[in-house]
Amino acid sequence: MNNTENISGRPPQTNFNEAFNNDLDYPRLGNVTFRRGTLTDNQEAMFNENWPQMGKELGDELIDVDAWFGRAGHTTIVEIGSGTGTSTAAMAPLEADTNIIAVELYKPGLAKLMGQAVRNGLDNIRMVRGDGVEVMVRMFEPESLDGIRVFFPDPWPKARHNKRRIIQSGTLNLFASRLKKGGVLHVATDHADYAEWINELVEVEPSLEYKGWPWDGCPQLTDRQVITKFEGKGLDKDHVITEYLWEKK
Ligand SMILES: C[S@@+](CC[C@H](N)C(=O)[O-])C[C@H]1O[C@@H](n2cnc3c(N)ncnc32)[C@H](O)[C@@H]1O
Repeated sequence: MNNTENISGRPPQTNFNEAFNNDLDYPRLGNVTFRRGTLTDNQEAMFNENWPQMGKELGDELIDVDAWFGRAGHTTIVEIGSGTGTSTAAMAPLEADTNIIAVELYKPGLAKLMGQAVRNGLDNIRMVRGDGVEVMVRMFEPESLDGIRVFFPDPWPKARHNKRRIIQSGTLNLFASRLKKGGVLHVATDHADYAEWINELVEVEPSLEYKGWPWDGCPQLTDRQVITKFEGKGLDKDHVITEYLWEKK
């Protein structure tokens, strides 16, 4: 079933503890899943024209990355929660040899990123619409990715919503499982309380070596290039940006 089309109630979610036979913590999906938003007629036309080549909906078919990008043997990085794709589109030209897959629930965000990719001829960007955690489990094989990025994830600041945060022991374990040996997980937040939350988790996943920030010699681009909308808001409020890098052992 397609999560993003299900607007009545909580979407079907993998029972991660059962599937992976563990008792780690996984995010509970919040209403963010149902975010809709509208596109202008021009955006809709552009989206419909390019989605068949550039996009996929969450599903149960493993992604054949080489076939999708039409090239073999390139580094592949998945960005979860790409928003409007500001960082994605700014970083992609600097890593043209890398396949970038942006995962987002929010169609207008994907449309904005698509518009930038099409206008600027960025042919190393593809996108998946759906919950990034489900996409990781259902669409990527274990040890198939070189990098995973999570930039400014929703902070869910109220204590009763903390369980919705995407960075948890279970997602770190899942992300690690999808990374190749030597692969990189890069997380950034501008939210002090979320940073404290992540600080508690940096050593929790045994197959990830925490590298801190910055990591000289990191094999991937880590400079996000632009101050994103959300980051800008954070900076306006005098928030500090905290970044995290891990290497898959
Ligand atoms: C605070 S915004 C940050 C967007 C972007 N990374 C930036 O820095 O501007 C968080 C984004 O993550 C998306 N998001 C939240 N949970 C998600 C999930 N489980 N899977 C995919 N995207 C998600 C939201 O729709 C939103 O666009």
